[in-house]
Amino acid sequence: MNCSPDTDFILFGGTGDLARRKLLPALLHLHGQGLLGPHTRIFSVAHSPGDDIAFRRSLSQTLKRPDDPPNDWASFEKRLHYVSLDARRTADYAALAARLTAGRPRVFYLSTAPSLFAAICKGLHEHELIRPDSRIAIEKPLGHDLGSSRAINDEIGQYFQETQIYRVDHYLGKESVQNLLALRFGNVLLEPLWRREWVRDVQITVAEQEGIGSRGNFYDNTGALRDMVQSHLLQLLAILTMEPPLSTQADAVRDEKLKILAALEPLRDSAVLTHTVRGQYLGKGAQSSYRDEVGVKTDSAVETYVALTARINNWRWAGVPFFLRTGKRLSRRLAEIVVTFRDVPTSIFDTPVAGLQANRLVIRMQPQETMTLHLMSKSPGDSMRLRPVALNLDYVQSAQHRQLDAYERLISDLLNGKLTLFVRRDEQEAAWRWIEPILQAWNRIGQAAQPYVSGSWGPAAAEAMLARHGLYWHTGLDPESSTSP
Ligand code: BG6
Repeated sequence: MNCSPDTDFILFGGTGDLARRKLLPALLHLHGQGLLGPHTRIFSVAHSPGDDIAFRRSLSQTLKRPDDPPNDWASFEKRLHYVSLDARRTADYAALAARLTAGRPRVFYLSTAPSLFAAICKGLHEHELIRPDSRIAIEKPLGHDLGSSRAINDEIGQYFQETQIYRVDHYLGKESVQNLLALRFGNVLLEPLWRREWVRDVQITVAEQEGIGSRGNFYDNTGALRDMVQSHLLQLLAILTMEPPLSTQADAVRDEKLKILAALEPLRDSAVLTHTVRGQYLGKGAQSSYRDEVGVKTDSAVETYVALTARINNWRWAGVPFFLRTGKRLSRRLAEIVVTFRDVPTSIFDTPVAGLQANRLVIRMQPQETMTLHLMSKSPGDSMRLRPVALNLDYVQSAQHRQLDAYERLISDLLNGKLTLFVRRDEQEAAWRWIEPILQAWNRIGQAAQPYVSGSWGPAAAEAMLARHGLYWHTGLDPESSTSP
């Protein structure tokens, strides 16, 4: 990976949670690996008063880690600057303008509530801070439905061209997601099997052990469908199932993803009842129930879990069920895609182990990034008994170098002007177009979020949804120990 050109990186929401937990640490690591231009500077912009010295000091307490090389922090902090401004007061942007370097590319990273996006763009525009080579990165949630997402895109579109807009979905920065592209399009082996004739079903799970933490106000207006499915899970689904793009150029990849999102079979009314499950966590031991979390209404109906069955109406995938689920406070942290192939047409061997014959490709993103192909092989001994074996395609462990984490990868691409791993407007809106009828049907039908105990795998109805297909959810354990219904 190349060192990015010297840039002024302007981080709005620069003292916020995401900035401290993900964005600034990612910049520190890019710096440590020599991937930031020598004169790149980082301006954290926030409302509270402050200066460079105080900001660096406060950040050193959270960012500086004992195992980082000693020079990293010392040289990194020289890049850090602080600008205090009220994002809604256009006049305040003069303070920012005064500090930016003329002629140097600018990247504006908006890690703020979307309600501030328009004011920020206007402030930048009025002070002539946006140039043709400027870029803007925006973080989800980009709206709460199709209309509000369009409104945000329209506002930003007044000041930036689409090719200057980087919509962040950090799942696209994960190494295993990019490796999925390599696996699918760098080999011929899978391609003939990657279709309805050979794939029986696909499961995509993003399970978290944590609750909603301190984000109650945000989460209680959002819920799992908007927070996770509209973005991360649908992006994973699109990458997994899209046709081979003509190249890795941004629009070539995004055109193919868009076709998948547009081919998703709409879920409406009664289909929503049978194809979706909403859940909400109950407390256990010291862990509180969702409704007792700070910022959450005591009678909240918002879901912290969602499972659904999606179908893609195109020639490659028609008829294959795609089971998606995500939730908070589940049994373990697990993000993985399981592609299960059809069973052998008939078994010629002694007593096959029921339900375990199917070949399966497991692409895991969390807790470790791994890829495993489950095949059948002979059990040692004199009988012809079969047993499942796992072929480990674990490229991360075998890699010589430390992998970039998702935000490091995305920020590096942003600084280098590479759009492929960012979401285009039409993709984002196609995702909302599919999600919106589900939200509307939930409201209209009054489909309640079913309670589930913290530490479980979610509501029983989600198990039942798969049991209707004779299937069960994979739990990230070895095939021998997966739970069956
Ligand atoms: C964010 C969601 O986009 O992704 C959070 O807003 C969620 O609710 C997070 O916890 C999960 O990301 P990761 O990379 O930890 O799986």
